[in-house]
Amino acid sequence: MPKFEKHIFICGNQRPTEAPRPCCDPTGQAELQRSFKEKLAARGLKGKVRANQSGCLDQCEHGPNLVVYPDAVWYGRVTLDDVDEIIESHILGGKPVERLTLPDSCLNITCEHRMPKTTSKV
Ligand code: FES
Ligand SMILES: [Zn+2]
Repeated sequence: MPKFEKHIFICGNQRPTEAPRPCCDPTGQAELQRSFKEKLAARGLKGKVRANQSGCLDQCEHGPNLVVYPDAVWYGRVTLDDVDEIIESHILGGKPVERLTLPDSCLNITCEHRMPKTTSKV
């Protein structure tokens, strides 16, 4: 079997509502991951592009998040309405959907979106 050409890791993490950080899949339904999987299969990409549910990708404040490898392109605030565009533009066309990509200034650092809303809880 040939290796996968791309891997899409889609955060499916849940947290309790009182948690200090938000989470990407509060309902635990993995709707984004299932949508990618179905739409990739419908385009004949099964075996070439894999959509995996992942645990927390540590970009929680920008979620729902996903990352496409080997491109290392990160997406945030992804909704079900964005799935077709990401597949068509990026996965098939090689052109990331700029309006949804997370800038380097948001990845793995304390960006403005990560600033705590209150100072009472870490
Ligand atoms: S919960 Fe999705 S990145 Fe942390
Ligand atoms: Zn940010």
